[in-house]
Order: sequence, then C-alpha cells, then structure tokens
Amino acid sequence: MVSPADPREKRPVNDTIEPVRALIEEDMRAVDAIIRKSLWSDVVLIRQVAEYIIAGGGKRLRPAVLVLAARALSYQGTVHRDLAAIVEFIHTATLLHDDVVDESALRRGRSTSNAEFGNAASVLVGDFLYSRAFQMMVSIDNMRVLQVLAEATNVIAEGEVLQLLNVHNADVTVDAYLEVIRRKTAKLFEAAGRLGAIIAGADHAVEAAFTNYGMHLGTAFQLSDDVLDYSGDERETGKNVGDDLREGKPTLPLIYVMQHGSQSDADLVRKAITSGGRDDLPAVLKAVRTCGALEYTRQQARDAALLA
Ligand code: IPE
Ligand code: IPE
Ligand code: MG
Ligand code: MG
Repeated sequence: MVSPADPREKRPVNDTIEPVRALIEEDMRAVDAIIRKSLWSDVVLIRQVAEYIIAGGGKRLRPAVLVLAARALSYQGTVHRDLAAIVEFIHTATLLHDDVVDESALRRGRSTSNAEFGNAASVLVGDFLYSRAFQMMVSIDNMRVLQVLAEATNVIAEGEVLQLLNVHNADVTVDAYLEVIRRKTAKLFEAAGRLGAIIAGADHAVEAAFTNYGMHLGTAFQLSDDVLDYSGDERETGKNVGDDLREGKPTLPLIYVMQHGSQSDADLVRKAITSGGRDDLPAVLKAVRTCGALEYTRQQARDAALLA
C-alpha cells in the first residue's frame, strides 16, 4: 500500500526525551489518572470512544511541556496536573475532529476513531472532550487560565479552517503555511508553556519567555510532523505515510519542491496538490527526497527548536 520508509531517514526518537520525561514521571502518572477519571460519562458510547483514543497512547507532549514549565519555576501545588489533563483533552478533541476532516484511517498505531465508530461519533465525542475540558477549567477558577485556554482553542479552530481553505492550492506561500501551523499546532504548545508559568506565579517577562518557548517548539514539532508524512516509519509514527499528499495539503516539503526543484518535479508536485489522491505518491516521494526538501524542512524545524 505505502512504499517502505527510507532507512536513511530514520532517527532515534527517544535519545533526548527520556531523561526529560524521567524528571516528571510522578506528575505525569497523576495527569494520566486525572485524564482517566475525567473521561467518565454515563453515556456509554462517550466512554467507549474517549477511552479508545486516549488508551491508544499518545506522547503526552503538551502536558509534559506544561508540567516542565511549572516545575522549572519551582511550582509546588497540584493545579498544573489538572491543567495538563485539560490541555491533553483539548488536543485529543482536535485529533478526533482532525481525523474526520482528513479522512485518516490510522492514529496512534491503530484504526482511527472515525474508522472504528464512524464520523458522527468522533465529532460528537470531540465536542464532549472540549466541553469537559471547559468544565475542568472553570473549576480551577482562575480568569487568566480561562483566557489563555479559550483563546488557544479558538485559534486552533481558525488554523484548521485556514488550512482547509488552502487544500488543493499549489500557490500557498511559506508564510501562509507557517501561519497555519502556528495556529493549528503551535498555539496549544504555547498555551501549555504559558499556563505552566502563570500557575507558578511567574512575572510577565518569564511568562512571555515560556509562551515563546512553546510557540517555537510547537512550530518545530509540526515541521517535523510534515517531514514524517513523507519519510516516517508507520510503525514508529502510528500514522499513514502520504496522507498529506492524498489530501492535497501544501506542506513545506512540497512548497520547497515547487520553488527549488527541477521544472518537471515542480510540475509534478503542483499537479499532485491540485488533484490530491495517492496516484502520484511514489513519484512525489522521489521528488521530495531527492531535491533536499526534507533536509530543508528538517533544518527549519531545527532552527525553530533552537529559538525555543
Ligand atoms: C498530532 O500530535 C497532531 C500534530 C500536531 C501533528 P501528536 O503527535 O503530539 O499526537 P499524539 O498525542 O502523540 O498521538
Ligand atoms: C494535526 O494536524 C491536528 C491539529 C493540530 C489540530 P495534522 O492533520 O497535520 O496532523 P496529523 O498528521 O493528522 O496528526
Ligand atoms: Mg490529520
Ligand atoms: Mg489535519
């Protein structure tokens, strides 16, 4: 179905994150317990779908950023754990909706919820998770926290809609692409960093620093995700390679080929974005891999990580 990943593209995924995770092991176990407890509903289908996606794993990166930020600032309370669970709920709600919109079949190494339970159940349980997150937020009773999360949720929705408008558009600029990924992805990382600082009582400068940290990290993260869509190993990413192309999504690797590749490669990619589908995947994979588009995008990710 999908051509095998190029082994040269393989990177050790756990070489730097594990020591960082070890710092917050206890917090993250507590966050997981809050997530499980807060999923409860007396409507059985909600529990089924929500547990299906949440038990599917997930790296819990956004909660980790929030917890790390709070702990880096010597926070000693427990509200960071509730906030981390809230951020993961918002993230999970976006994934449920995103997989419907993207018509994706694989997530976290298994069938997506939409493939398993249908689009309607996925959309509605996504709504449940959003609104459960807002219930949990309100009980924290902190207006700044509410402001940050309400804004983030709204901006993410804008990002997804902006991206929808760009689908099948081969003329999308690098700036327009960056605007989409800042909104759809970086915004929640930004909120995570910022909330860690807010809850720890940081001053404005420190809060701004953690906000920017999250924004750059989230940008680096989505850039890497867009590389992996052309080079990843499905056993590692748990997602199908080539989904972005199938959707006609003009991500940075493709924009790079159109701007810097040979005329024939640029024409090929332009046509593939406009028509979508999987037919051109092998040829586009070859174009993307040979003209340095992945290396360029990876370098952009490294630059954003460095800024973070
Ligand atoms: C997936 O995010 C959505 C993107 C922004 C690329 P993650 O890769 O963090 O998803 P999980 O939670 O680990 O599955
Ligand atoms: C992830 O976007 C969803 C949000 C950030 C809201 P993508 O569609 O690019 O990510 P994957 O590849 O499905 O995880
Ligand atoms: Mg998607
Ligand atoms: Mg998407």
